[in-house]
Amino acid sequence: MALLYRTRRWLKSEDLNAMGTLFGGRLLQWIDEEAFIFAYCQLGMTNVVTKFISEIEFKSRAKLGDVIEFGTDIVKFGTTSVALRCHVRNKRTKKVIVAVDNIVFVSLDNDGKPIPHGITKFEPQGRWSRGSLDRAIENCTEEYEDEIELYKTYGGD
Ligand SMILES: CC(C)(COP(=O)(O)OP(=O)(O)OC[C@H]1O[C@@H](n2cnc3c(N)ncnc32)[C@H](O)[C@@H]1OP(=O)(O)O)[C@@H](O)C(=O)NCCC(=O)NCCS
Repeated sequence: MALLYRTRRWLKSEDLNAMGTLFGGRLLQWIDEEAFIFAYCQLGMTNVVTKFISEIEFKSRAKLGDVIEFGTDIVKFGTTSVALRCHVRNKRTKKVIVAVDNIVFVSLDNDGKPIPHGITKFEPQGRWSRGSLDRAIENCTEEYEDEIELYKTYGGD
């Protein structure tokens, strides 16, 4: 499935390291948050914790004033877990800043034990509904390329 770029952030001075470029720890916090929200929307439950984060490759730097975009995608649904990937890119250049290809979340019961989530397939959420995808096709511009890819893959259902 295509990565869907939903969230954008504008880099401010408090997001930078001593070199004046984006601080990696801040970026990892945002990635965990972005991936959690995606997992939460897909599983429909808030009792979800991060279990595993794979290798993290910082591919390029970002600087003050850059706008960065977060793309997420399902890798696989397990029984109690869901695996995602998250890539972050520069909005203007489309250059990848960081790629994390396996982030695993586990759904928990109220005692904190893994519980089956019962979800087996990706469902577009929120603005990725049939109507917005139809509009994306109508307004077929580069800005909507991810939505169009999704529509082609899943038919907007
Ligand atoms: C999440 C937690 C309850 C899981 O406990 P556990 O004993 O490892 O659970 P299980 O062995 O039953 O595994 C649960 C799921 O995680 C998956 N999993 C376990 N270890 C994994 C690993 N290293 N990598 C990827 N997936 C893993 C299992 O495959 C299983 O998925 P499935 O049911 O879809 O097959 C426990 O590890 C925990 O509380 N960790 C701390 C979480 C946390 O604080 N995160 C940071 C803040 S959000």
